[in-house]
This record gives sequence, structure tokens and C-alpha cells, in this order.
Amino acid sequence: MSKIRLGVNIDHVATVRNARGEIYPSPLRASLFSERNGADSITIHLREDRRHINDDDLKKIKSKLKIPLNLEIAATKEMLKIALKHKPPYVCIVPEKREEITTEGGLKLSYKRNFLKEMISKLKKKGIRVSLFIEPSFKDIKTSKFLGADCIEIHTGKFCNLVNGNKLYKKELKKIKDSVNLGNDLGLEVHAGHGLTFRSAKILSKISNIKEFNIGHFLIGESIFIGLSNSIKKFKKIIKSR
Ligand code: PXP
Repeated sequence: MSKIRLGVNIDHVATVRNARGEIYPSPLRASLFSERNGADSITIHLREDRRHINDDDLKKIKSKLKIPLNLEIAATKEMLKIALKHKPPYVCIVPEKREEITTEGGLKLSYKRNFLKEMISKLKKKGIRVSLFIEPSFKDIKTSKFLGADCIEIHTGKFCNLVNGNKLYKKELKKIKDSVNLGNDLGLEVHAGHGLTFRSAKILSKISNIKEFNIGHFLIGESIFIGLSNSIKKFKKIIKSR
């Protein structure tokens, strides 16, 4: 059974820093600490409004990190330029609305279709692995393949909300499972992320062929109680024990 990789999203270390306009806690320190404590990659979302991670964080983290950096960006000319300049090993293209609290739902692939195709091609030419953050939808998976993505990341937000609310989640789980299978059949590497907790990650880790989880908010929040190292280790253990 192949190992599932854990991408640790450290955006909310920057959220805490920015809440007080201080220079701590440091996202760079959190990245290097996560690297030493079992993270397989570090994910950061450089939002257009720079509400958490900023350009300086990206520069510092990219220059010091040894494990892959996964840069999440919106499909805009500005973000494409930044990604081509810094050349992180991984890029995940995500939807972005200024007013939202977090990334609500997957990319609308019909919107900006031509730009997305061009963006993916330019990133891949620089040797960057490109992923698209999408809903568990057959149409979007097929379109991702058509657009030339290497990977898809399935938005798990709806599933996690059902699990957290102790609601029936079997139908949504099946949708994710079927999506993972289709992605694999089409030769796409499949990832999952958004809203994952110990409980929801454990359920999803039973699906074979999810290659990577990207987890942030809960993992960083839990580190208040058990420490960042233990929070990472607990997730690693959960996603390993299929
Ligand atoms: N994956 C993607 C593509 C995301 O946009 C996010 C949120 O920034 C995550 C994973 C992590 O979600 P969470 O912080 O809810 O764990």
C-alpha cells in the first residue's frame, strides 16, 4: 500500500501573526519545524489580499525549505507571474473571492478556461507540478485532464461539514471515492483537502489512491493543545493506518 503524503498548510500561523501586526509567530519557523517533524510538503496560499501569507513569507520559505513547497494561487496574471518567478515545485490553482472567509468550493473550470490552460502549460514548462482544486465532480475531473493538469485536489469541505455535524455522509463519501477512481483512471494524481480533522481524515484515508492530503486550519488549531509536532504526527499516523 503506497504512503499518503501529508502537506501541512501553515497559512494560519500567518493569520495569528497578522492579527497583531507582529513579526511572530513566524511562518518560516513553522515551515521548517513542520519539515523536521514529518511534513511531506508545506502548503501556503498567497491570497490576492495577502490576508495571511505575504510575498516575503513566500520568498523566505522557498529559499530555506528542503521538502517541496506547494503554492496555492488564484488564476490571475499577477499570481502566474509570481509563481513563474519563484518556481515552487508544486502549484495548486484555487478559486478566490475577496469576501470569503476561506476557499469556498472548487474552481469553476468553465470560467477562464483558456487562461487556465495557458497558465497550466506555462507552469509545467518550468517543471512545476500543477494541481487544480475542484469539487468531486466527474465533469470537472475530465476538464482538469483536458486542461493539462498533473493532479487534482478534491475539495472535501462538504464532506467534512457533514462529519463534523454528525450528519449522514455516506453519499458524499461515495462521490469522493468515485471521483478518486475516475481521476486515477485518467492518469491524474489525486489529492484531497479542506476542512479535514482527525476524524474526517481517518475516514478518507481508507480510500485507496488518494496520494496527498493538504491540511491546515484544524492541524494548526490542534497544535494549541497538543503542540505542532504532535498534531503533525497524529495526522501522519491516521493517514497511514488505512
Ligand atoms: N487545500 C486547498 C487547495 C486549500 O485551499 C485549503 C485551504 O486554504 C486547504 C487544502 C486546507 O484547508 P484547511 O485549512 O481547512 O485544512
